[in-house]
Amino acid sequence: MTSSTAEQSAGTVLITGASRGLGAGLADAFDAAGYRVIAAIRSPDMRRQEPRLRHVRLDVADEASIAALADKLAGEPVDILINNAAIRGDTGGLDTLTSEDFLKVMRVNALAPLLVTRALLPNLKSGRRKLVVNISSRAGSLAEGTLDDDEGDYAYRLSKAALNMATVKLAQDLRKDGVTVLSLHPGWVKTDMGGSDAPLDPEESVRGLLAQILAATPSDSGSFRSFDGRTIAW
Ligand SMILES: NC(=O)c1ccc[n+]([C@@H]2O[C@H](COP(=O)([O-])OP(=O)(O)OC[C@H]3O[C@@H](n4cnc5c(N)ncnc54)[C@H](OP(=O)(O)O)[C@@H]3O)[C@@H](O)[C@H]2O)c1
Repeated sequence: MTSSTAEQSAGTVLITGASRGLGAGLADAFDAAGYRVIAAIRSPDMRRQEPRLRHVRLDVADEASIAALADKLAGEPVDILINNAAIRGDTGGLDTLTSEDFLKVMRVNALAPLLVTRALLPNLKSGRRKLVVNISSRAGSLAEGTLDDDEGDYAYRLSKAALNMATVKLAQDLRKDGVTVLSLHPGWVKTDMGGSDAPLDPEESVRGLLAQILAATPSDSGSFRSFDGRTIAW
């Protein structure tokens, strides 16, 4: 990054799981909106470095990888952190639930956003927006999560319910630092995770998520909304 690139940008956004799906879509959308984008990817093509879209290596399931990214970005302000990386895990019912699968999903979907947020807190505190966005799911809502389907995916649902509590708890803890923390549901979207039956195209979800993120204010901290602005009951 040159200093003039930083000065001309609308801000800096770091997105985890930006290799494909909604993470890649958000990276392109923020780039188009004039942001400097740090696209965090497990196996990045480090040759693909553009002036405003920079690829960095991050496996959110690996604490050493999180620490290495924090070291690499030391001293660089980050305005918006989007904890987007996630896995679905076994979608079967109670019969097929395994401890190994459960813990893997919890690590990536619930623990990693906490660890990444903590590691990048100095960057967020020196940013202007001071915003953390946890990409959650309505599937993790205790009130609404089982209304539309009866799929098992215990690990995924429990991980997103835990992530929602992380949003509320981080919002409480980081208020003193002026950091806003949100949970956002992207809708049911045609990605590798959402599958081809999903009603939403990624572009529509990303447009809505971008609008919610750009409009967020400190008074929204600790809230859970859908990409279309609807409040989701916890
Ligand atoms: N699609 C939907 O209908 C839907 C609905 C509700 C919520 N969501 C949420 O929306 C977010 C994006 O989902 P999506 O549909 O775009 O999923 P996706 O197409 O399956 O993409 C998942 C992304 O997460 C990354 N990832 C997984 N494990 C990782 C790890 N250990 N470290 C770093 N990156 C990792 C993947 O990277 P690799 O390419 O390296 O695997 C990929 O970039 C997720 O939080 C998901 O739970 C999606």
